[in-house]
This record gives sequence, structure tokens and C-alpha cells, in this order.
Amino acid sequence: MYTNIVRCRACGFGTPENPGGIKSGQPTDKLIPVLDLGLHPLANNFVKEGEPRAGFAPLQLLFCPQCSLAQLSVVVDPVQIYEKYAYVTSPSATMREHFGSLVRDIKTESKNGSVVEIGSNDGLLLAFLADAGYGNVVGIDPAKNLAEKARKSGVVVINDFFNEGSARSALLASGEVDTVIARHVFCHVADWRGFVKGLEILASKDTVVCIEIPCVTDQLEACSFDQVYHEHLSYMPIKAMKALLNRTLFHLHRVIHYPVHGGAHLVMLRRNDCVMPPHPSVQETLESENVTLERWQAFAYEAKLRIVRLRDRVRSLRDMGKRVCGYGASAKSTVWINACGFTKEDIYGVYDGTMEKQYCTIPGTNIPVIHEGAFYADAADYAICFAWNYFAECKAKQHKWLETGGRWIVPVPEVRVIGLDTAESQA
Ligand code: TYD
Repeated sequence: MYTNIVRCRACGFGTPENPGGIKSGQPTDKLIPVLDLGLHPLANNFVKEGEPRAGFAPLQLLFCPQCSLAQLSVVVDPVQIYEKYAYVTSPSATMREHFGSLVRDIKTESKNGSVVEIGSNDGLLLAFLADAGYGNVVGIDPAKNLAEKARKSGVVVINDFFNEGSARSALLASGEVDTVIARHVFCHVADWRGFVKGLEILASKDTVVCIEIPCVTDQLEACSFDQVYHEHLSYMPIKAMKALLNRTLFHLHRVIHYPVHGGAHLVMLRRNDCVMPPHPSVQETLESENVTLERWQAFAYEAKLRIVRLRDRVRSLRDMGKRVCGYGASAKSTVWINACGFTKEDIYGVYDGTMEKQYCTIPGTNIPVIHEGAFYADAADYAICFAWNYFAECKAKQHKWLETGGRWIVPVPEVRVIGLDTAESQA
């Protein structure tokens, strides 16, 4: 189901376990373990009763002292994760707003030519790009269910992982590529060299390659350990991206920060033969980011405290006879719920509007996903917002419930309770 990792994916640091020639007791250059959450199910393995479930795999992070990349200690077989994928790009107002900013910023760096999107999901961003006047829009995505969904909205999708073969097919479908976009897919990929080889096929001298990744300094700041799961193989500072690119045809061209998903970076790359000078944001980001072993160790310590805090808070509510549910069956909810060891007795269900997750259980548990439409009528006393990155939106949507005495528990950046009649309180 998974393979172990011993080398840094970005800079190559690290020796294999017991390498020939190194005697016991001699120093080795091993990656350093910083967080260990034990065995976890695959966070998006939402299946219905009777359907086969994927197994469990370790959730452990290793830190590279050379380029500061943190990465999972294992890589789960990607076919197992992505062939049928439950994550659907949210059509939420928050996401639409983000896509608006993204397209506006990308336009300042590109012409309205052809766009290839790697990891095009259900085609939502491709539709945005087509509306914004881009020429051919082509997606590449390995999930059969999502590729079919995107095709129904009229866009061309190559149903495959991104590799040299699918890059060639995309090039054939799109003609000369003006812009390549890869949103939150790069850190899901184990073979970065293969990925960059695919980019080399797609990109010409004037192509801008836009890679959106989570902002690791924001993740450290917020201690959003719930974003550590088997799909997220890498936690990447810009310094590590620079180390990776050192041995390729590309260089860093520009870095833009966005608040979406708890903080993200859009990293723009250009080929080394492009004459445009790099934007000052590259140097500024490299100088300001402070990603160290000590910060990752503090992150791990704080994560364990928060898990205990949420578990204690929910168990004491349960002892008081309160009904507690979750809101947003995000991958993050799977991490929280499994890390806390919650069962249906603690959280009777998690509400979510996504069709694909209906009638499933939260991976690794017996907690059902319930249709979001039933939330108000079911009248829970407390709802844990596992879609905390959309909290403002969830709160506005369920305002009536709040008015009737419902209370939110928001687990990030601090475990806190929010009700109309309460001052915000920390657990
Ligand atoms: P999301 O944060 O997008 O991703 P991840 O799975 O990577 O952690 O997941 C948010 C989930 O919350 C998603 O399943 C959709 C759901 N959701 C609702 O059901 N209703 C809402 O109003 C919002 C904003 C999200």
C-alpha cells in the first residue's frame, strides 16, 4: 500500500537505512522525524457501507536539515488515492473569490493563449479561465469520476496522472501553451523530477508555470496539523522549491500569497532562457520565511496538545448530555476525528453538502456523513467546524441555528467555542 521515504524529494539529502559502508554509531545524514500521528486511514477514502476500504498507513513527518522541506515518511500508492477521488473543488463563495484573484494575477503574467491545468478536478477553474477569455483550456486529472464531470461542462480533460505522456497529449490538444496551472497538486506528487520533465515538455520560452502550494509558514503559525495526511506528501518552503529547481530548466519568477485554505503561495516559474527578470517577491519571500527544525518540533508539541483539548472538550460535553456533530466532512475532519479517537458516541455525524460523500462514513470510523440540508432541523447543541477555512461562510449559512442557541467549536487556529450568547472562549 505504501513505500518508505529516506531521501529529501527537493534536494536529495539523506542516506538509506543502514547503507553499505556506514558502520553503526557513525553519523549519517538521515531526515529527522518531527511529527508522529500514528496509523491513520486515507483522509478522503469516503466509502459506503459494504464497499471496500483502503487500509491504514503511518502519518509521520520528516524534516530535511539542508533545504527545510518536511515530507511524509511514506508514499501511499497514488492509484489507491486518486482513481476515485472524493475531493471536489468547492463551488463555495470563498473559492470563487480566490479563483477571481488567481486569474487576475495570472493574467498580469500571461497572454490569453492556451492553458493547461494539471489536477483539473471537476473543471471549475478551467470554466473560470474560459470565461476570462483564455483560448484552449485543457485539463489533466487521474480521477475518472472527476474527469467525466468536467467533460460534461464542455472542457477537454486527459484522464491520467501528470507525466511525460499526458504532457504530450495536453500539448497536442492545446497547441503552444501560454500558461500552466497546478493548484494544490504539486505537494501531492512523489516524483518531482518526473513532474518537472512533464513541465519541460509543456513550457516554451514565454510560458508561465503557476504552482499553488500551501504556505508552510502559515501552517506552522496556525499549527494546522490537520492538513497533514497521506495526500500531502510535502510541506514546502520556497527555499526547498529553489533547491529543487537548481537542477532543472526552470527558475523562480514570482511568489504571491493568498489567504485561501489557511494560507497559500502561488509560485510562478519561468524557463531559464526567458529574458524577464525575476520579481522582487522571490527574494523577499526567501529572506522572510523562517522554517526550522525547532519550529516543526514546536508544531508537533502543540498539535498533541490541541488533540487532547478537543477530545476533552467533546467528552465533557457528551458527559453533560449535549449533542455534538461535525460540519464539513473535509479531509481535515478525518485527521481530527481519528487523532482524537472519536466514535459515533462522541460525534453523532458530520454534515456536508458534497454528493460524493453522502451515505458514507468518516474514514476509519463509524461516524456517518449527513446531508447538510438536515443540519438545522437536527438541532445539534454543538457543531465542530472541520471546514474551518470556510468558517465565515458556514457561520453565515447556519445563522438561524446560532440564533436558536447552537454553538460552534472551531478547532483552528485555536480550539474555541462561538455562540451568540457567549463571548468567544478557548477550550
Ligand atoms: P475543504 O476544506 O475544501 O477540503 P479538504 O478536504 O482538503 O480539507 O473541505 C471542506 C468540506 O466542507 C467539503 O467537503 C465541502 C464542505 N462544505 C459544506 O458541506 N458546506 C459549506 O458551506 C462549505 C463551505 C463546505
